[in-house]
Amino acid sequence: MAIGAFPQNATNPKLGTNKVEDVVSAMTLKEKVWLLVGMGDEAWKKPADGQKSVMLGDAAGLTYAIPRLGITPAVLTDGPAGLRIKVEQELAPHPFYCTAFPTATALASTWNAALVENVGKAMGNEVLEYGSDVLLAPAINNQRNPLGGRNFEYYSEDPLIAGKLSAAMIRGIQSNGVGTSLKHFAANNIETNRNTVNAVISQRALREIYLRGFEIAVKEAQPWTVMTSYNRINGFYTSENHDLLTTILRDEWGFKGMVMTDWWGGKDAVAQMNAGNDMLMPGNHQRDELINAVNNKLLNEDVLNQNVSRALAFIMKTPRFRGYALSYTPDLKAHAQVAQNAAVEAMVLLKNDKTALPFASNVKRIALFGKTSYRFIAGGTGSGEVNYEKAVSIDEALANNGYKLLQPLSDLYKNFIDTVIANAKPQPWPWSKKTVVDFHPELALSQSQINDQVKNSDIAVITIGRNAGEGADRKVENFSLSQTEKDLIKNVASAYHAAGKKAVVVLNIGSPIAITDWRDDADAVLLAWQPGQEGANALADILKGKVSPSGKLAETFPVKYEDVPSANTFPGEPKDNPVNAFYNEGIYVGYRYYSTFKVPVAYEFGYGLSYTTFQYSDITLNNDKNNINVSVKVKNTGKIAGKEIVQLYVSAPTTEIEKPTQELRAFAKTGLLKPGESETVSFTLTNRDLASFRTDLSSWVADKGTYEVRIGASSNDIRQKVSFDLPQTVVVEKVHNVLYPNMFINELSTRTKGK
Ligand code: BGC
Repeated sequence: MAIGAFPQNATNPKLGTNKVEDVVSAMTLKEKVWLLVGMGDEAWKKPADGQKSVMLGDAAGLTYAIPRLGITPAVLTDGPAGLRIKVEQELAPHPFYCTAFPTATALASTWNAALVENVGKAMGNEVLEYGSDVLLAPAINNQRNPLGGRNFEYYSEDPLIAGKLSAAMIRGIQSNGVGTSLKHFAANNIETNRNTVNAVISQRALREIYLRGFEIAVKEAQPWTVMTSYNRINGFYTSENHDLLTTILRDEWGFKGMVMTDWWGGKDAVAQMNAGNDMLMPGNHQRDELINAVNNKLLNEDVLNQNVSRALAFIMKTPRFRGYALSYTPDLKAHAQVAQNAAVEAMVLLKNDKTALPFASNVKRIALFGKTSYRFIAGGTGSGEVNYEKAVSIDEALANNGYKLLQPLSDLYKNFIDTVIANAKPQPWPWSKKTVVDFHPELALSQSQINDQVKNSDIAVITIGRNAGEGADRKVENFSLSQTEKDLIKNVASAYHAAGKKAVVVLNIGSPIAITDWRDDADAVLLAWQPGQEGANALADILKGKVSPSGKLAETFPVKYEDVPSANTFPGEPKDNPVNAFYNEGIYVGYRYYSTFKVPVAYEFGYGLSYTTFQYSDITLNNDKNNINVSVKVKNTGKIAGKEIVQLYVSAPTTEIEKPTQELRAFAKTGLLKPGESETVSFTLTNRDLASFRTDLSSWVADKGTYEVRIGASSNDIRQKVSFDLPQTVVVEKVHNVLYPNMFINELSTRTKGK
């Protein structure tokens, strides 16, 4: 049959009725290729049969429909903090608002898999009811450097947290019968030159850090799809790398779904097809290239058949294929409550001197400083931004909770914000005129403007904000507070302290910032992260003491940027236009570095205060044939109900190879413990949890020797310890010797020193 013809034949097999192989056999080469490359901008400009009505405004992508074979189109939409679609939809009966949930970094700080799964359920329900088939989320790359522009979309510096919590997110979203796309596979840690940068990484660092979270999520939750990243790893684009997508992802990990590119990712469509990158998104410009490649015998049609089969298996799962009747009315009210509950558990109390928080009962009038107090940053910019109806601001949330705010101060800031927005030039994507406020310097206040507020208020709250998003990394200057911000904190605090009143700092940020050069001025510091549209309501719950904070850091706050192990090599070489990024810190990412090399930090991994206190006792350890079972008792010894995050670190023998001093191997969050109440928390470890990656053996190996299990309230605050011996070395798993570096890496080592 001539290429280009779309045959109409009554005997056509139908997807869902006939076998997938029969449908594939009935497809023309053109149909196969068109299915695999996505509709690109034709999704909007020239929709094929029956497709116009399915295309959601601002959806990210659409797959090609082939009605004669019963192949329905699939709509793909962002993103990690909630469904990202246009509010005003062409044929829609009413505005399509979506819920902005806490960003992934905030969700990770809950350390609560059940909570994250529940967020996923609510998020996936909006995907389903508004007519999308796949949410392009979760995003789980490691937070390697605090300047990473997309860090807010990612979970943690630690792959166990990222893997476990994203698995929960996937289960929650997919429980609605819609798909996910676990992204960006892999080592997508740099936004500068993101489409080309080559991440040069050792095999061990890849296996233990950069692939590990994906491995856990794939094995535990089977996302419908995986999205490859833009960057190269050790010379090859991830989307063109057979070792990554077939040898590791499918053969080693047992991934059953479909792989798609990131939007316009990679260069060579034939290599992508051969690698097992089934679908090219948003697609369509590669059609001729692929058809010609098959005709010229540069691409085997069997490869296309295999990729098409996976695409069809994916399509058969979609709500559109199943004929789901859309309601267009997800329960946004209920979802707002889910978002608020999650935000409450995400916030991390960093400092609380002399019980500055919760507000004492005599606090009735609040002076709110900082532009971010009046323009809340619910989430970051770019494809991770959600079009919500309203993000409650901190001033509104406090007023709704019965506090009196100072009108002249509010007016001062609101006028400032209005002027910034009015004077803003139209912004290129992904910024908007509104987000310009977030990037604008803080309003400087004179001491007398500050002093004027003191007598009219019982406490000062100063909000510091930071925004970022895809396409650009943050600048080093952005890591530190500006002089205006530091002056604001200092001057407000000294004015309030002089009057015997307190000053509290709230951080509405997506990634760590410098803290030690101003924190002494503040009585309390509450890290709110970018906690979604209901974040300010959650913040009010914590400030007034309705709920005790229970979040802990899933990312270290270093003292200064220069302390970050990748500070010298980020974003890459050359710095202003990076071609290669040498991951010289190897496995020593985040706390693995700070604790092993004894570098002091501002707040360590796993850190977070509470309004109550917890006592740890009665650690037990039992070995059975395959498992090590550890339990510990946690008791609320304070006066307020609270939840505690219990962290299990393992310090492994280093006779064969070097290892970080300790690594997180399990974690759990207690239920809400009343004062005096206890809970016994249990963990099960397998040999795999003890293993490190041996590059020379291409294997995960648990070395014989003594292992110390450390139960901590943070990575530095170890409360209970117990040791056991592994009598024999165990090769837990042999894997393939693939993804080796294409260049020399001057890798950090405890044995050779230096970074
Ligand atoms: C981003 C992805 C996103 C895609 C579709 C890309 O620029 O990197 O995370 O899912 O666009 O919007």
